[in-house]
Parts: sequence; structure tokens; C-alpha cells
Amino acid sequence: MKHAMILGWLGFALALVGGRQALRGPVGQVRQRAIRLRRVTERDAAAWARMRCALWPEAAEAEHMGEIADYFAGTASEPQAVLVAETASMLVGLAELSVRSTAEGCTTGRVAYLEGWFIDRDSRRQGVGRALVAAAEDWGRQQGCREFGSDTQAENEASAAAHRALGFEDAGLVRTFRKDIRPKKRGNAR
Ligand SMILES: CC(C)(COP(=O)(O)OP(=O)(O)OC[C@H]1O[C@@H](n2cnc3c(N)ncnc32)[C@H](O)[C@@H]1OP(=O)(O)O)[C@@H](O)C(=O)NCCC(=O)NCCS
Repeated sequence: MKHAMILGWLGFALALVGGRQALRGPVGQVRQRAIRLRRVTERDAAAWARMRCALWPEAAEAEHMGEIADYFAGTASEPQAVLVAETASMLVGLAELSVRSTAEGCTTGRVAYLEGWFIDRDSRRQGVGRALVAAAEDWGRQQGCREFGSDTQAENEASAAAHRALGFEDAGLVRTFRKDIRPKKRGNAR
């Protein structure tokens, strides 16, 4: 099945061309339709928000829009770069990137990090996620990083499988916790 699909895709290339800042490196996959990878621009704000809402539905759209506005204003601490994948008519995927000083399982102090990775449902399993990660790795190299970190929710088996298929090693599961530390009432402080 897979070989038949790949043969059917021959003759079509996944183009990796630059936006304002060109991403370098060839993408050697042959694919069903041309996909262009580039940096996000302000004109992508609505599509970026749509994909963020699908990836992180626990946050309200207004919150996503606020963080997107901060990114374009240059006031967001992360993401530090956002790569998008587009067809002739629409954006179909994104990779949000940062550089972290520590990351689970990593030993260097400057780790390129895949903060968000999303491909529209209709465009999955066609190599778009792989191409975005390859471009993200190039971005990380350009930032002087020698390691690339990522995470996903424990139950997201598809994401874990995709990470492994792209050469990520499992760095273990981390359980996270939170509690409110509201201001103490007067006279109660110790
Ligand atoms: C995870 C995700 C980004 C992968 O994108 P994609 O475009 O489908 O990935 P690709 O087609 O480039 O596949 C890359 C590799 O991962 C593997 N893979 C992708 N989806 C898979 C799945 N559901 N199960 C098993 N393997 C999978 C592919 O087989 C491929 O390996 P191969 O080239 O050796 O065959 C996409 O499924 C997605 O957006 N999921 C929802 C959001 C999410 O979970 N994001 C990650 C957490 S932040």
C-alpha cells in the first residue's frame, strides 16, 4: 500500500522555499502536492490561531490571539520562531520553536525545542510534519543548538510514534503538578 502510494506521488515535489527569511536545506520527499514551508507572517494570524485552537483547545481563542499579537510585536518570550506549511490555497501545518536552557533528557544548555507541532487532519501522513521538523532542525542548528527537544501528552500515541519515526528518543515521562499560592490572609502568615 505504502509503496503504491509513493509511486503514485512520483513527479511531485515538496518545495522548500523561503519566506522573508529563507529556510535552507532540501526536502527529498516526493509528495502528492506542492507544500511550501516558510516563516509565519502577520497575514497568517487567523490561520495560526485556528491551528493553535485545534492543538491547544484548553486555551480560549482570545488567549491564542493575544499570544500571536505578542509574537508579532516582538514581546513574546516564546515561541521564538514559527514555521508554517502552506498549499496554494491555505496553511496546513505549523511548528512553533524556541531555544530552552534545559530540557528533559538533554545535556547541553541550549536546546532547540518543538513547542508546538500541528498538521491539519486532511494533510496528515503525507510527510508535511516530517518536512516541518527537518526545517525546524535547520533553524535549531542556525541558533547554535546541538540537541532538539520536544514533548507531548502521555496519551498521545500518534504523536509519540511520529516523534520516534523522526529520530527522537524517548526521554521519559514527567508528571506535572500545580497548586494555588494565593496571598495569605493577614495574621495567618508564618
Ligand atoms: C503529529 C503530527 C504533527 C504528525 O504530522 P504528519 O504530517 O502526519 O507526519 P508525517 O506524515 O510527516 O509523518 C512523519 C512520520 O511519523 C509517522 N507518523 C505520523 N503519524 C503517525 C501516526 N498516527 N501513527 C504512527 N506513525 C505516525 C509517519 O509514519 C512518518 O514516518 P515515516 O516517514 O517513517 O513513515 C500530526 O499527526 C498532528 O498534527 N497531530 C495532532 C497534533 C499533535 O499531536 N501534535 C504533536 C504534539 S505537540
